[in-house]
Amino acid sequence: MIFALLGSGGWWPFWPVRSASTSTGKRWAVATQTFTFLFTDIEGSTAMAERLGNAWAGVLADHHRLIQGALAAHGGQEVASEGDGVFAVFASPRACVDAAIEAQRAMLSHAWPAGEMVRVRMGIHCGEAAQTAAGLAGLEVHRAARIAAVAYGGQVVVSAAAAELLRDSLPAGVGLKDLGLHGLKDRGQPGQIFQLQAEELPARFPPLRSLGNPKLPTNLPAQVSSFIGREVELVAVRALVDSSRLVTLTGAGGAGKTRLGVQVAAGLLDGTGDGVWFADLAPLGEADLVAVTVADVLGVRLEPGRSMADTVAGAIGGRSLLVVLDNCEHLIGACAKLADALLRSCPNLALLATSREPLGIDGERVYRVPPLRTPADGDDPGEIRASEAVRLLADRAAMQGVPLAGDGPSAQVAGRICRRLDGIPLAIELAAARLRVMSAPELDARLDERFALLTGGSRAGLPRQQTLRAMVDWSWELLTSPERVVLARLSVFAGGFGLAAAEAVAADPDVPAGEVAGHLGALVDKSLVQFDDAGAGPGRYRLLETVRQYAAGRLDAAGPAAANAARVAHRDYYVALAEAAAPQLVGPAHAEWLDRLDAELGNLRAAISFILLQPDPDPGLRLAASLLVFWSARGHAAEAADALRALLDVPGAQRATLASARALAAAATLAERAGSYAAAEDYCQEALAIAAPAGEDYLVADLLHQRAWILLHQGKPGDALPLIEQGQDLARRLGDPHLAARLHSARAYATNFQGDHAGAAREYLQSLQLYRQTGDQRAVGQLLANLGNAELSAGDLDAARYHLAESLDIARALNNRYGIPFAASNLGLAEYLCNSLGAAEALFAETLDVAMRTGVKRHIAYALIGLALTSHGRADPGWSARLHGAADQALENQGHALEPLEARLADVDRQRLRTAMGADAFEDEYAAGRTLDPAQVLTALGAKDATAGQPRMAVPDEAATALTPRELDVLKLVAQGLSNQDIARRLVLSEHTVHRHLANILRKLGLSSRAAAAAWGARTGVV
Ligand SMILES: Nc1ncnc2c1ncn2[C@@H]1O[C@H](COP(=O)(O)OP(=O)(O)OP(=O)(O)O)[C@@H](O)[C@H]1O
Ligand SMILES: [Mg+2]
Repeated sequence: MIFALLGSGGWWPFWPVRSASTSTGKRWAVATQTFTFLFTDIEGSTAMAERLGNAWAGVLADHHRLIQGALAAHGGQEVASEGDGVFAVFASPRACVDAAIEAQRAMLSHAWPAGEMVRVRMGIHCGEAAQTAAGLAGLEVHRAARIAAVAYGGQVVVSAAAAELLRDSLPAGVGLKDLGLHGLKDRGQPGQIFQLQAEELPARFPPLRSLGNPKLPTNLPAQVSSFIGREVELVAVRALVDSSRLVTLTGAGGAGKTRLGVQVAAGLLDGTGDGVWFADLAPLGEADLVAVTVADVLGVRLEPGRSMADTVAGAIGGRSLLVVLDNCEHLIGACAKLADALLRSCPNLALLATSREPLGIDGERVYRVPPLRTPADGDDPGEIRASEAVRLLADRAAMQGVPLAGDGPSAQVAGRICRRLDGIPLAIELAAARLRVMSAPELDARLDERFALLTGGSRAGLPRQQTLRAMVDWSWELLTSPERVVLARLSVFAGGFGLAAAEAVAADPDVPAGEVAGHLGALVDKSLVQFDDAGAGPGRYRLLETVRQYAAGRLDAAGPAAANAARVAHRDYYVALAEAAAPQLVGPAHAEWLDRLDAELGNLRAAISFILLQPDPDPGLRLAASLLVFWSARGHAAEAADALRALLDVPGAQRATLASARALAAAATLAERAGSYAAAEDYCQEALAIAAPAGEDYLVADLLHQRAWILLHQGKPGDALPLIEQGQDLARRLGDPHLAARLHSARAYATNFQGDHAGAAREYLQSLQLYRQTGDQRAVGQLLANLGNAELSAGDLDAARYHLAESLDIARALNNRYGIPFAASNLGLAEYLCNSLGAAEALFAETLDVAMRTGVKRHIAYALIGLALTSHGRADPGWSARLHGAADQALENQGHALEPLEARLADVDRQRLRTAMGADAFEDEYAAGRTLDPAQVLTALGAKDATAGQPRMAVPDEAATALTPRELDVLKLVAQGLSNQDIARRLVLSEHTVHRHLANILRKLGLSSRAAAAAWGARTGVV
């Protein structure tokens, strides 16, 4: 059973240590020795046991016999076997490899009953272990077990340590494939993992089940410290998650709820299904943001006018995923409501919440996270060291560079400290940090004094939450005065911060900014601040929630002036950051800045929320307006539009400032994208009324440009052109290339609309040149889509496809949620005109999917028209007619006019359908389509994929064989991130051919995007 858990949950028991600990009175450790460890375990054994019933015992016995045969042939010693797993050691890694290969071959050739196939995962690692009286023990044994846990049935993985020793001694025909760096489930430091390759053994597996593996569908945070113990809890919570769709881990602050939740979730990541997602709710200040955050995590964008929960539920639909809702307590009502709504409409969704109190909804299973097990008074040293709490203390002390002494009396002291701290992980971590400056016996004595004081001299324990409070209090008291100021002020950050932000926010008259870094380092050493080293980039700091709340309490206690000063400093830092970002977002460094702002989303929101409570909205207007490109590109347009509206409506605020004019201009863009052209025009007029008299020419030109686009989208190029000309006059005087490029682009669109496609292309090329000068690749990408559209109108399909494919590549590389549907819908049109209906349909489906998330209404309408035109519609004319109805309704709702080419194609298609179906039948379906919700269209597309049996998730071999060798070559390069142009160069093909191959790949795999194809290739091992 214990081994079976590894198969299903990715968890391996600490049984060598456990068996050592059961030998009361034995010495803890004797001499260590280097071994090669082999861990094996049957994949999916629980389900197989259920399927086989009585025959399972025979299967287990056969499996064991085959493994033992391989061990015996190569000198392996079985240390233990339990259930369906075996732990063996070898004197050399080569012997272990031989045995593993032989055992795998034996499994493959054995005739298992009922057509079953026993697939055994294996892990090989070399390291030291102590031969204790009760068995082998040591950290490397745990590591070996964890290495095995990331493999799949039939796969043999090898640690870097073992690989190094094997380098020159592998048998002929056997190789090691480098699978890259992988974080093991409980450890921060990733290690290299290799896959053993040998004839007859399967070579392709999904991505390893390791934490932080970018190929797995997850955003679970990688952990920087070891996970300790919790064997029983992991099993219990896993069983709850298997049997119920909402499990809540409750317990006091610092009890380890989040850590346990992440560990359980990591165990559920097995490369199948739609992933495991982590929503950190701790930084959120408002109930509304719960659904927004879950949406962000899942890549779902909210559509204005639709309930957030509905949008998220629609996007999840029938997908099979687990979402961790972490730290729900402060927004418990909103969490409960969202959880309830999602569980009702998403049959394959499971939720794992962590919260100090239960959500209190139907079907919730509550699991109270106990403290870590502490040793009893009188336990022998072995038992003390093996207890969870002492292991945590020892591990964290070792991390601080002060390992606990190994003798018996030291173990007793460690046991007492942990008992004193009730086994609360956070309290133990804080205590471990004290060991840098005092010995363990001193720490024990100090704790004794303090707790005796708190309990009025009685030696009885404190209530648990008071224990933690006392420990945090003590840590606080030991801080220097500047460290206290810094920690209290850091509590205003939401969702982590970088060093520069800390310097700006934590400094006060008594703490110069230059000294903040030093204090921050001290706080990290004392475990009051966490430091997440990002590897290449700058690291980020964060406060655990319990500590943050404590620090916030201290900040408030320092008085309203102190608290306000910290929040003002936080606000000012983020306003300045946003203003610094604005020019960068339209320059060569825009990609980095988009990512940087993504990481700061919690702080940007916190700053806006604070500003909304102040009489002066100006800083908020500046912040929100400066980030227009970010909001739009990363799918936060609806939220930003709400924020701008709220800031513009702050009662009593002076409305005619320059900041409000800029904010009105940003609001106009967002309204125009949401399809509210009238509102957008109003905002523009209001902004112009401020900007024009103030002589703000840049803003005036920008507003003229915006007004022109609003008119163009309504099909009024004649009205738009004079505004464009006025804008161009100003732009010429200002000499700003970005502004000039924007105006050229608007003119080109107008020209194209009026039928002069060649003139439009020329104008677009000018715009393109200017954008290239600015280095704004995002704008270049969007311009290429416009250019491609003009080329389509002119009938130059090759040029159009070339430019549109490049545009889509750029948008995808930047994760530009506005650009992707824009380019995809135009490329879809090109494919349609080239008669590649499957590829076109896939692109329109992608357009609809992303546009629904971003809420850009005209993209939704374009997707619906495209879908009406393409193959899905052709198979069922009634459906096609309904899609036309839905598209026309969407266009009418926003008053959007199609470009002539699209209008003509839609017209012809409607005519064709009318003829094919008969006018009455067409009109009925068309009218029914007017009430069709685009979400239903997405659902229908998903259902179609399912009935067509096309693999959304891995069905590797059949799908892979459906790809031609050339298509496989292309897919490999796509997976390496190459653009079509680069692939064409590499394979000596025309870019057009590469594009065609890619379209075929997507069609055959039933996927809708290049990224999905790359992920599929990686997951199934074909690339
Ligand atoms: N089993 C464990 N192994 C190692 N470290 C642990 C374990 N459990 C908890 N910790 C550590 O203890 C600290 C507190 O844990 P965690 O943040 O999970 O508590 P929590 O119950 O979620 O607290 P809060 O209520 O404040 O959210 C963290 O630093 C965490 O890494
Ligand atoms: Mg927590």
